[in-house]
Amino acid sequence: MEFAPLNEQALRQLFTEAHTAHAFLSRPIAESTVRQLYEMACLGPTAFNAQPARFVFIRTEAGKERLIPALSPGNVPQVQSAPLTVIVAYDLDFHQHLPRVFKGYDAKPIYENAPELAESVAFRNGTLQGAYLLMAARALGLSAGPMSGFDVGKVDQAFFHEGRIRTNFLMNVGYPDPAGMFPRNERLGFAEAVTLA
Ligand SMILES: Cc1cc2nc3c(=O)[nH]c(=O)nc-3n(C[C@H](O)[C@H](O)[C@H](O)COP(=O)(O)O)c2cc1C
Repeated sequence: MEFAPLNEQALRQLFTEAHTAHAFLSRPIAESTVRQLYEMACLGPTAFNAQPARFVFIRTEAGKERLIPALSPGNVPQVQSAPLTVIVAYDLDFHQHLPRVFKGYDAKPIYENAPELAESVAFRNGTLQGAYLLMAARALGLSAGPMSGFDVGKVDQAFFHEGRIRTNFLMNVGYPDPAGMFPRNERLGFAEAVTLA
C-alpha cells in the first residue's frame, strides 16, 4: 500500500513543532490511550520481527516510589509530574518467541548460545521500539520526555529480578506543561550529518 505524505498539521505534531517535555499537566491519560500507545508502537519494524523491547508502564504512586531512588536529581520532578513513566527495557531471551513471531524460517538457533549477538540485537531493536513508542505518543496528541539520567543497576534491581531483562532508557509521557518546554537547540545541518554516496 502506498500512502500520500502527511499533511502540514501532522508533520508539525510529529516533527517540526514536537518537543521534548520536561514537565506535565496533572491531566491523566485515558486507559484506552495507554493501551493504544503499545498497540501502535509494537507495529514498528524489528529484525526478524523479534520485538525484544519490554515496557513497564508506571502510573501509580507506588510504582514511582520504586523508580525515584534510581533517578538523577533533575529527573525526579519530571517523573513526579508525568501521568505515565515508561521503563523501556529489552529481553535477552527475546528469541524464545521467534517461532511464533517470525514465520519465514527457524531463526531461533541464530541467537541460542550466542549471548553477545543476542544482546546487541536486543539493544538495537529495543531502542528502536522505544523511539516508536515516543512517536506513537506524539501521534496520539501526547508529549514525551526520554531520560537516561538514572542508575541502570538500581532500576533493574527494582523491576527486573531475573536478570534476563535489562533497562535501556526511561520516558515520561503526558500532556505537556508549557513551563517545562525548553527552547529547541540547534540541529546539525544536512551536510554535517549526511554523506551522499
Ligand atoms: C535517550 C535520551 C536521554 C535523555 N536523557 C535526559 C535526561 O536524563 N534528563 C532530561 O531532562 N532530558 C533528557 N533527554 C532530553 C534531551 O535533552 C532532549 O530530547 C533534546 O535536547 C531535544 O530536545 P527538543 O525535543 O526539545 O528539541 C534525553 C533524551 C534522549 C533521547
